[in-house]
Amino acid sequence: MPATSHDNLVVSQYDSRAAAYLRSTVHASGPDLVWIAERVGHRPEAIALDVGCGGGHLSFLLAGLVGHVVACDLSRPMLQTVAAEADRRGLRNIAVREMAAEDLAFAPASFDVVTTRYSAHHWRHWQGGLQAMRRVLKPQGLAVFADVVAPEDALPDTWLQSLELLRDPSHVRNASLQEWKKALASSGFAVLEVTRFRLRLEFASWLERMRTSPVHAAAIRSLQLLASAEVAEYFSLEEDGSFSIDTAVILARPL
Ligand SMILES: C[S@@+](CC[C@H](N)C(=O)[O-])C[C@H]1O[C@@H](n2cnc3c(N)ncnc32)[C@H](O)[C@@H]1O
Repeated sequence: MPATSHDNLVVSQYDSRAAAYLRSTVHASGPDLVWIAERVGHRPEAIALDVGCGGGHLSFLLAGLVGHVVACDLSRPMLQTVAAEADRRGLRNIAVREMAAEDLAFAPASFDVVTTRYSAHHWRHWQGGLQAMRRVLKPQGLAVFADVVAPEDALPDTWLQSLELLRDPSHVRNASLQEWKKALASSGFAVLEVTRFRLRLEFASWLERMRTSPVHAAAIRSLQLLASAEVAEYFSLEEDGSFSIDTAVILARPL
């Protein structure tokens, strides 16, 4: 059996996909980014930390709002892609750091804004990552958590986690909104505002972005063809396998 850690699996999944994540329209745009920009607003004096920056779309947005952005990720090629794209866009206020969410090597209360988008469901220790974000956030700071959220209902929840794992073995778990609220409260955050969005995933590009193996793609398709009416309805399942999921953005401050 392979003896690799979960973090190594994340890195092996994402290292070769950096360009795809930079190009991905699912990640490069979306009403959640507009929502975040409105809440963060212009803070020229602020320093922001974007955890699990991936292709850097939230980091690029923050770079236009705050004075300085630190973009961190486990994957070095992702960070190299972000640095090159920041350079191409003339964004001189983004620094990249190779680092795990659970182990943010910054002094306590270093940042005015901490964010994470579409990354937390990969973290080996989700709550540890939230606690680390709380530790490096200033007492008057602002936190933004954006991710896919799991259905509260066990049936579609099981389907979501199964499809996600088959597509990408570095998936850990999409938490439900209730689980997010509980984990944030016990990590020292007070939730200020929550907004939910619906996100349509086009089947072919969703698999292509992660280079899902043919055997796993076939398993996903096979599962989809067996989906009950309520599962198909929940995910707005389409003929070609495209489907829709729920996402949420949570705005919080230190308790
Ligand atoms: C889907 S991408 C993030 C997208 C990006 N935040 C955006 O807004 O476009 C997920 C990223 O999370 C990173 N990641 C996964 N687990 C991590 C961890 N424990 N610590 C830091 N980064 C992690 C992966 O390497 C990957 O680059």
